[in-house]
Amino acid sequence: MLDLLQIKTILVTGGGGFIGSNFLNKYVVDLPEIRFINLDILTYAANLNNIKVSEASNYKFIQGDICDIDFLDSLFTTMAIDAVIHFAAESHVDLSIKNPKIFIETNVIGTHNLLEISRKYSIKRFHHVSTDEVYGSLGNTGYFTEESPINPSSPYSASKAGSDHLVNAYHQTFALNTTLSRCSNNYGPYQDTTKLIPKFISLLTSERKVPLYKDGKNVRDWLFVKDHIEAIWCIFSKAKSSSIYNIGGNNEKSNSEITQILLENFGKDESYIDYVADRPGHDFRYAIDASKIKKELGWEPIYTFEKGIKETIKFYTR
Ligand SMILES: NC(=O)c1ccc[n+]([C@@H]2O[C@H](COP(=O)([O-])OP(=O)(O)OC[C@H]3O[C@@H](n4cnc5c(N)ncnc54)[C@H](O)[C@@H]3O)[C@@H](O)[C@H]2O)c1
Repeated sequence: MLDLLQIKTILVTGGGGFIGSNFLNKYVVDLPEIRFINLDILTYAANLNNIKVSEASNYKFIQGDICDIDFLDSLFTTMAIDAVIHFAAESHVDLSIKNPKIFIETNVIGTHNLLEISRKYSIKRFHHVSTDEVYGSLGNTGYFTEESPINPSSPYSASKAGSDHLVNAYHQTFALNTTLSRCSNNYGPYQDTTKLIPKFISLLTSERKVPLYKDGKNVRDWLFVKDHIEAIWCIFSKAKSSSIYNIGGNNEKSNSEITQILLENFGKDESYIDYVADRPGHDFRYAIDASKIKKELGWEPIYTFEKGIKETIKFYTR
């Protein structure tokens, strides 16, 4: 268990991105006694306009690269950081197929730099935000548990798996106080419009067709981003060191079902679907068994898919 009273400053990496900005928008307000430092290099996926708490006295933004270890060292020397919540990553699977190197640099080397500096400065907790994609693909049945073998398929998921192993190794070898979460697909406000749901909403809003891979049968377990950030805080603040938790919404939908829901919402028919060549190594199905976090930490998702998707569509069409 973490003594939250000892946590005065949290370094949040990648807070300019989708999940990080949702996290900061809630917790900078909810926890005024904690100072949040948002470290982000600002890639295409970041948007500082999505941060609604930038004027708060307990929030500070610093532009910087987790791949630059000397920069991280000077940051930790000057900022009295007590804990790290690590969101920063290259996160787009398709881009990882086009350019794997940047994924290895950011997700593996960048995470290693943060672990090394966290160890050097005796950080009290390092929470690593990871993905169910590290488990690879399921068939029609079954669920990923925390004990499922790590079996990634894409350069993205392989780089995240590498970072997960490093986090666990830094706990085992150096007794760094770590926690790790693996979440299913998120949707909600402030996601970059290159990702499926915001991209499809934006195309349908401008009367254009949506590109659906092959037959759209690939299944993902969708979780509203606000449920994810609550699970992260729950693990960060309550879990034992070295623990790993799966986070999921029990909300399996195929890409084709998601497309149908969006088409219906925009009053469009199937003529608005453009079937495109499938992604190489496309995992068929991800499904999360989130019973451990529910049982041990009492977390439950609040949003049904119907409520979450309504809020999401409202956000992107506002
Ligand atoms: N989006 C999902 O559905 C999902 C699901 C499960 C887990 N995750 C994980 O959650 C985390 C956040 O995902 P997201 O969807 O918000 O990603 P995102 O791509 O929207 O945001 C990533 C952020 O990291 C920053 N960043 C990238 N390289 C950096 C570097 N070298 N130094 C500093 N900052 C850098 C980017 O500028 C961006 O703001 C990732 O680790 C991802 O693997 C995402």
